[in-house]
Amino acid sequence: MKKLSEYTKAELIQRKEELQAAYCEFQNRNLHLDLSRGKPEKRQLELSMPMLDLVGKDEWYSEEGLDCRNYGGFEGLAEVRRLFGELLGVPEELVFPGGNSSLSMIHDAISRAFLFGPLPGFTPWSKLPEVKFICPVPGYDWHFHTCEDFGIEMLSVETGENGPDMDQIEELVKDPSVKGMICVPMYGNPSGVTYSDEVVERLAAMKTAAPDFRIIWDNAYCVHHLYEEEEKRDHLANIYEACRKYGHEDRVLMFTSTSKITFAGAGICAMACSPANRKEAMRVIFYQLVCYDKMNQLRHARFLPDKNAVELHMRKQAAILRPKFERVENILEEKIRPLEIGEWHNPRGGYFICYYAMPGTAKRIVQLCREAGVTLTPAGAAYPYDVDPKDSAIRIAPSYAPMEELNQVMELFPVAAELAAVERMLS
Ligand SMILES: Cc1ncc(COP(=O)(O)O)c(C=O)c1O
Repeated sequence: MKKLSEYTKAELIQRKEELQAAYCEFQNRNLHLDLSRGKPEKRQLELSMPMLDLVGKDEWYSEEGLDCRNYGGFEGLAEVRRLFGELLGVPEELVFPGGNSSLSMIHDAISRAFLFGPLPGFTPWSKLPEVKFICPVPGYDWHFHTCEDFGIEMLSVETGENGPDMDQIEELVKDPSVKGMICVPMYGNPSGVTYSDEVVERLAAMKTAAPDFRIIWDNAYCVHHLYEEEEKRDHLANIYEACRKYGHEDRVLMFTSTSKITFAGAGICAMACSPANRKEAMRVIFYQLVCYDKMNQLRHARFLPDKNAVELHMRKQAAILRPKFERVENILEEKIRPLEIGEWHNPRGGYFICYYAMPGTAKRIVQLCREAGVTLTPAGAAYPYDVDPKDSAIRIAPSYAPMEELNQVMELFPVAAELAAVERMLS
């Protein structure tokens, strides 16, 4: 195989015909496959079924003696605060456990900043003429739509292999209307990248013109390693500790959940932040609800009593996920690498592989896949306002499809990617 850029025009025309014939075959297969969302597959969910039996008859009491069937325990169960403290690397006093969704907690945190200001004394962001957020790209579509809903102007910053471009971020935060940053710092969705120690340190240390600058640190994949060996895992530095060191402990709001540890949409989540941020959040949330679902917190705390239990459970998850990631990576290596029409980062954890297609072809690849019965996340979704300026990034979510289906998708995908590239070169 030679690089596609070395093909003559006649060779490209011939190759296009071959690819079109191959593509037609896929269309005739009548596929109905979906790789658009990072959902766990059934076998992963089965791993957590024993959890449902852990809160049985007469077993409703937390370690502090709270009857979890009743109101009370607004601050969450002690065992859950301890667990999330361990997972996020902060003292349990800084943890505030929530309900089933970290995204909902993130949404609430942004709402509070808009309604009341991030802390007493700050102007509510809704009263400001403009509010801007730094958005490392490619990033999580749900974050960007949340920002858009609040009228936050999103400033894209490219993510490299060590995280976002810090030179650019340090420039942007000189603008006082830049109030925050929203990001997935570990095994990013969809970049797969984990922020380096230097990036974490600079985020903590940088001077921001806005005194109420906040980093929404969505650490959804903090324990989602694909490999057991330490040297094959990414490591994320502790941003809270770093912020504290520089006197910026109010800067970061950390979030995580068990959505991709136990049950997606039926797990538990938590926020961890400075005492001042936590106090202010609790002041507002206090009248938002009497307490979160302590029965679910109890089930989780019994099933996953500590970080070690989470580690053992996540190894089982990884055993299911890893072969799928490796299958995608192997096919890309075999079919795409020699042609030099795409790039990707082999993530060592998380839920996504981001494929960077030949610029100007991502939308076409997604369209070709769709018209052959394979749904991918829409091209552009990983960028603010759904616009990928290079029309290049495609999020591949291998988790949900069983291996047989993934195999079929990965037969089609290289054909679609090459066909789109050939069409582009001939246009
Ligand atoms: C980065 C990130 N954050 C949050 C979520 C959703 O988490 P939750 O179910 O806790 O709201 C996801 C789900 O895909 C995600 O990828």
